[in-house]
Amino acid sequence: MNHLKSNNSNYIFHLPEILRQDDEEILHALENKTNAVVKNIYNVEYVQSEIENFLRLFNSSCRLSLLNCNENERENFTFLLLLLENSVKSALKELHHNNKIKSYSFRCPICEDVITTKSNENIWETLQSHHHFEDLYFQFLTEGCTGFQQDTDTMDCNEADSTMNNSFGDSDTEYSEAIPTTSGEQNNLHSGNEKNVDVNSFRFNFPLRYDELVESKVYPPGLMWGIRRYDKIKDYTIQRCGPSRASCLICHCEMNGLRISKHMLIGHAMGQRHINASKSETVLEMLQFYHNFWLNQEPLIQTHQVYFRPYSIPTFRCALCLEIVHAEGVVSHIFSDTHKDYVIRNYNKRDRKEYYLIELQLQLYGIKTEKQNEDDKQNKEENNKTKKEAKEKIKKKQYTDSKIPPRRKSASSKELTAEHKIIRSIERPESTDVFDHIPNRMKEQRKYLTRKSLPDGSAVVSCSLCKIDLKNDLKIVRNHISLASPAHVDLNEIYKYYCEICNIWEQGEMGWSRHNFKSKRHLNMAESRKPNVTEYECTTCKTVIFGDELSLARHLPKDGRSKKERSNQLPDGVKLLFKSKQDLLAEGANLVAQAEEVLTIPDTRVCCEKLEEALREQFENCKVYPFGSRISGIGTKSSDLDVFVDTGDMYYGQRNQDPSDQVTLIRKAIKAFAKNRDYENQHAVSTARTPILKLHYVPLNLDCDLSFKHGLSVENTKFLKYCLELQPIAQPFILLVKKWSSYILLECVNTYAFAVMCIFYLQVNGFLLSVERLRNLHNSNNLTIINGWKAITYSLSLEEIKKHIKIYPRSVDELLKEFFEYFSKFDFNSYVVCPLLGRVVNRSLFETNSGQDLPKEMNDYLVQLEGDDPEVFKLKSFMCVQDPFDLSHNLTKAVQQGTVKNFQNMCKLSAKHLAFN
Ligand code: UTP
Ligand code: MG
Repeated sequence: MNHLKSNNSNYIFHLPEILRQDDEEILHALENKTNAVVKNIYNVEYVQSEIENFLRLFNSSCRLSLLNCNENERENFTFLLLLLENSVKSALKELHHNNKIKSYSFRCPICEDVITTKSNENIWETLQSHHHFEDLYFQFLTEGCTGFQQDTDTMDCNEADSTMNNSFGDSDTEYSEAIPTTSGEQNNLHSGNEKNVDVNSFRFNFPLRYDELVESKVYPPGLMWGIRRYDKIKDYTIQRCGPSRASCLICHCEMNGLRISKHMLIGHAMGQRHINASKSETVLEMLQFYHNFWLNQEPLIQTHQVYFRPYSIPTFRCALCLEIVHAEGVVSHIFSDTHKDYVIRNYNKRDRKEYYLIELQLQLYGIKTEKQNEDDKQNKEENNKTKKEAKEKIKKKQYTDSKIPPRRKSASSKELTAEHKIIRSIERPESTDVFDHIPNRMKEQRKYLTRKSLPDGSAVVSCSLCKIDLKNDLKIVRNHISLASPAHVDLNEIYKYYCEICNIWEQGEMGWSRHNFKSKRHLNMAESRKPNVTEYECTTCKTVIFGDELSLARHLPKDGRSKKERSNQLPDGVKLLFKSKQDLLAEGANLVAQAEEVLTIPDTRVCCEKLEEALREQFENCKVYPFGSRISGIGTKSSDLDVFVDTGDMYYGQRNQDPSDQVTLIRKAIKAFAKNRDYENQHAVSTARTPILKLHYVPLNLDCDLSFKHGLSVENTKFLKYCLELQPIAQPFILLVKKWSSYILLECVNTYAFAVMCIFYLQVNGFLLSVERLRNLHNSNNLTIINGWKAITYSLSLEEIKKHIKIYPRSVDELLKEFFEYFSKFDFNSYVVCPLLGRVVNRSLFETNSGQDLPKEMNDYLVQLEGDDPEVFKLKSFMCVQDPFDLSHNLTKAVQQGTVKNFQNMCKLSAKHLAFN
């Protein structure tokens, strides 16, 4: 028991204190004490005497109270005593172990296989049984290789050494000294021939590796292997930062394209610039410094490296914030508001996420995406279930022991509900290894397959079940195990197969492999969706699903889980935001100050002037109009700058309104910026309702969205700004809702839609006027009509209009609470949010009688429907929020049912949280 002699002799509780508490607590206390023994918290003698004392007292006073307890209490006590019995048993078991049992994983550098072993097993023996052991040993003797490498485990060298010592018996070698720490040292240590090598110094070496997920995304092995064939530097020189981005870490080239292909990156590695850079020692040192830094970070921090580039030896450049950051300040930079805002905005981008690993990056801030919330919920339910089962087991045991038949319990709906466990069919799609492409549902089959090298250097896959060799080709191997060999086919579990893209079910693996994944329908998928589509397996209901995460969300509700069982937790960010009334008010004031600063700094004006100047090369008389949050007063420092470019007679929608015109204008604009080094990352989003050109204005570090349609967005921005002036509380209110939404991360609801919902809530309650009412009050003769939609011509003073509204009498926290309460109960199935009228409109009115029953104020919509190119309001959506001016536009048309539920649930929880009681 020597190892129990911890130097920590402080103790938290005393027996006399325990006795003043309830009996139940005494049992807990004893249980804690037993655990404490296990955890080495107390000094042995002390624990021993305490337990003896406890037993004495337990036998006297506690026993009496236990005997006097009623039926219910008895049940609880018996359960607790059983728990105690279990704890004591495990404590005793623990005491018999001299060592704590730990798992260690090692990776074989030849086949990359992970070998897992426990500290109570003979690690040496386990590793010796690995089929590459001999090869490694031979390499060690002849070339001085490094041996097995510890895989992402926590064991430190000394721990490893002690276990090694056990395996070696009496070896007196000082292992910690002999273990090389850098590759340089390794070479020095292990160079030499067989004769002068001390075989006992064959060690396990623990070089740092990137987190597996980070590595698979940013430095995928297949791709890196391809690059290294041409690149002299045997390190990661090129980083894949996103689906359409890569960055060269040595010659600082940024590569953007629709898709970053292997071909493109290998081409870069073969280029003269890259070759020249790789000759510079400073560059190589910078690269080493870069990787050393990131390798030493926690996995979640590592995910942020996609934003950082080497700059000089102690510094990096953040490509998001364009700041030069000292290595020591990188972590705090990642946590800074500006950086965080950029990351959140990147996540919120509907069309295209520019960087990889965003969900993990958000996790670092305690922000959970909808999907993660759902996963957490599932895990929690799984844990609860296991706990419950364990408890039941103990209870059952207790009843059996006392010969009392167990009480029958009716099955609850929870127990009847199946938990859905969804995994990717292929975890490493980027791998070139045939074995990695065998779907998870056929994992049983993998054990019959081995790779065999032929004398000519080629490889085949041997099947021990059918005793044949197969060509090392994915199609052939997969066909063999899933279709061709009856022996294998029988081993496969029976699955159903569903392709969400084509909305069809297939029977069996045969039908599935016949399904044409290159059909027109698959090819016609939105570009933004394609990279996210893959094959999943629900191991619970044995279904293969081809689709994206939304498809999975649609799969889940079918399990019949009740509403109550769905996510019931606010994200940590929201809890923090709503921590107390003071904190909330302070955050509101802070956001307002930031928005005002954004409004007043000259950046927007300067950037617009520069854009105009550059665009004039292609469009002689163009005029640039800024709009969006930076103008309306709901912006933050990291907000993008939205601009409308009028190339001539376009503001009112007279010219260039066809999608083809828009694309032509964007192409011309791209030419205007092409040679200008102030603009980076140009990227056209042509499929959007309003096509845009995205670019980054380097001198001011501003992301810009350029549109070329008409001036209606400029007008709706004016309207938002006007509302904030009319009802001042609207500004902190919308800003706080915007911040709230950044934690909730609702798919397909953008900032503008949230702002419109806030305005609508104020209209409904008389704190703002409807668009129609405002228009009538201003009663201007000069109507502003844009593309057939009436805007507002503001003719009266603000004071005049203020007479028609009530000023909100309470503080912003109460307004938020009311807003959340309102939308948590909003009947999205029946009503459309309509800021034009400042009240709800029944959905059915849009459908029946061709919309003729709609309120007369919506006449422009009906007129537009009769035009050449009508656009029907998207009513089939699960959430309808009508644009205040463009009445055919449902701002939330792409929202899915799950998102509405999540939104309403979050509203409900937020309203509750805001009670501040
Ligand atoms: P953004 O999505 O850039 O939002 O739309 P924002 O209000 O500027 O907020 P940030 O960027 O997240 O801080 C910019 C503008 O585009 C128009 C609105 O005028 C909005 O303010 N817009 C956006 C529409 O007219 N319709 C839409 O569906 C979306
Ligand atoms: Mg914007």
